Amino acid sequence: MPDGINIDYDGLIPNNVDLAGDARVRKALETWHPGYIDWWKDMGPEGFQESLVYLRTAIGVDPKGWAKFDYVKMPDYKWGILLAPKVEGRTIPFGKHKGEPAWQEVPGEYRAMLRRLITVQGDTEPASVEQQRHLGATAPSLYDLRNLFQVNVEEGRHLWAMVYLLHKYFGNDGREEAEELLARRSGHQDTPRMLGAFNEATPDWLSFFMFTFFTDRDGKMQLEALAQSGFDPLSRTCRFMLTEEAHHMFVGDSGVQRVVERTVEAMRDADITDPHDIAAIRALGVIDLPTIQKKINLHFSLTLDLFGNEISTNAANAFNAGIKGRYREDKLEDDHALLDATYPVLRHVSGQFVTEEVPALSALNLRLRNDYVQDCISGVTRWNRVIEKAGIGFKLALPHVAFNRAIGEFAGIHTDIDGNILDEAVWQAARDGMLPNDDDAAYITSLMVPVTENGKFAGWIAPPKMGIDNKPGDFEYVQIVA
Ligand SMILES: [Fe+2]
Ligand SMILES: [Fe+2]
Repeated sequence: MPDGINIDYDGLIPNNVDLAGDARVRKALETWHPGYIDWWKDMGPEGFQESLVYLRTAIGVDPKGWAKFDYVKMPDYKWGILLAPKVEGRTIPFGKHKGEPAWQEVPGEYRAMLRRLITVQGDTEPASVEQQRHLGATAPSLYDLRNLFQVNVEEGRHLWAMVYLLHKYFGNDGREEAEELLARRSGHQDTPRMLGAFNEATPDWLSFFMFTFFTDRDGKMQLEALAQSGFDPLSRTCRFMLTEEAHHMFVGDSGVQRVVERTVEAMRDADITDPHDIAAIRALGVIDLPTIQKKINLHFSLTLDLFGNEISTNAANAFNAGIKGRYREDKLEDDHALLDATYPVLRHVSGQFVTEEVPALSALNLRLRNDYVQDCISGVTRWNRVIEKAGIGFKLALPHVAFNRAIGEFAGIHTDIDGNILDEAVWQAARDGMLPNDDDAAYITSLMVPVTENGKFAGWIAPPKMGIDNKPGDFEYVQIVA
């Protein structure tokens, strides 16, 4: 009998939510399962379904030892339903119900809001798997190939996590949403995924690293905000997802860093000190720093759109209701109601940027976005240390928050990466210098040649400092079966 710590591995679906004792939900999930496997085979990693991949699988929810590593064929991965252990006596941490016992069932008045939040979160999980499905063919090493697949199977598990909540707590409506989560397709003209950044292509491995650094980090922020929820099953689900999410961000953070390392190393070996001598640097078969900057500009701006409008009644309502909190709400010291508080919002008003104090409740999307930007800066700072150590005069940076935006205050304007407002003609002319253009894409694509020999790495990326699960450098992370 699962007690919230131990996992029941006897049935089709590993879980710590007592599926064995809940015939209705077990049946619903077992009915959903074949469609999921079909989706995985159709839309999951292309060409590697028979290969043995050295993957971690969650076997518990104790932070000290929750995973085991072994070779698995991806379609046989144990996608389980795992919630962080219940905290006895937990109360709703914010909003107008603050201090009341956390809800174990969906409160009727917030049903629609919760269903929407869970569905949107759920939709991002399979979307990223779809976006990344062709990358296996061009992996720069077996180590990277394995990391890609680890991220993919865990995004699959995150879909399970949300589908469990839909089936368990939302009846027929939940079942319909769960079906649709398998029916939408990233980038599809008629049935796209719900959010913009999840319909963009991930055409190459630098994009993949940028995506896991920037866009998975949006996922982390959303999960952090939902982990504070007064709806306890959602909170517990998100808390466990965050333990897995940390690895996804590691893949992105260390991935970009290894690209930067290789570039500056090649420049040093060739005595190139000018980071803008792009032709000479590309002749070395590495990715020049200005192009890496362009990728940052693209992925950062696309991801900022995921936070929604800076000023949002929906965000205010979700907070007030006790459904979606702030980043680390439990660590913040204020009244957790925000009825009288204000928050500064950068707005675009008739051709100028102005900072306005607005009611803090309505600025919660922006607040989460600001916390996100802080989180991103720490990664960029680490990358810059590598460049500085190599003695190269170049600094990577996040572009201005108004740059290349499609949602919110800055959707209607163009700016350069420093936030200077540009008219349409100037923007059109400057765009290619700020975002990856066709030449950049063609160059990066030319580098995307698979390397599948144990312990070998493509020439545009440095090896990692350490193996996964302390494995040696020449470990066979994927046994490829064509
Ligand atoms: Fe996820
Ligand atoms: Fe993720």
